Amino acid sequence: MKIAIGISGASGAIYAKRLIEYLHNKHELYVTASKYAIEIFKSELNEDFFDFIASNSVKYFHNEDMHSLIASGSFKIDACIIVPCSMKTLSAIANGYADSLLSRCADVALKENRKLIIVPRETPFSQIHLANMLTLSKAGALIVPPNPAFYNHPESIDDIVDFIVGRILDLIGINNSLYKKWTG
Ligand SMILES: Cc1cc2nc3c(=O)[nH]c(=O)nc-3n(C[C@H](O)[C@H](O)[C@H](O)COP(=O)(O)O)c2cc1C
Repeated sequence: MKIAIGISGASGAIYAKRLIEYLHNKHELYVTASKYAIEIFKSELNEDFFDFIASNSVKYFHNEDMHSLIASGSFKIDACIIVPCSMKTLSAIANGYADSLLSRCADVALKENRKLIIVPRETPFSQIHLANMLTLSKAGALIVPPNPAFYNHPESIDDIVDFIVGRILDLIGINNSLYKKWTG
């Protein structure tokens, strides 16, 4: 699959990291990240974002590079994942304000009727945030808040992260054993 991954400046860089690590050998990844996403990656994970990108086989594009492949609907991707999604980027996408590559590639996914997964991170949500999520849900996006489940008895942060990443992969049709499926 060809998958665009947009990383914005919300807490939860670890979800983007795990998603890329899991997918990069098996799928074509096209990655962009905002200025704040790059800062938060370093502060939350104590790892340089560009070192991480260099050590994984992905195509990386600067967030201001509107000439890049994923800025155009004529470049056919199978899914676009915005993870984590800040409330600012959520607002931009919900309002068609495509002033960065990140918001543009999500905008393209919507207009081309392709799979768009939004992983919004904030708490609590204001009515503005909720209205933006509803707008995007009505436009066809899947809203996947990174809420952990406890019925599968997570024992570590990795278990919690893998549950969310596994659910994202389920939604774009990638079989995975990242978390224990509910068996009743
Ligand atoms: C350490 C840090 C953590 C942040 N966490 C969040 C967050 O969880 N959710 C959010 O909506 N904004 C968060 N922000 C604020 C956004 O980074 C800010 O609104 C920024 O303009 C988002 O721009 P971007 O979406 O282009 O990355 C955080 C900022 C910093 C510095």
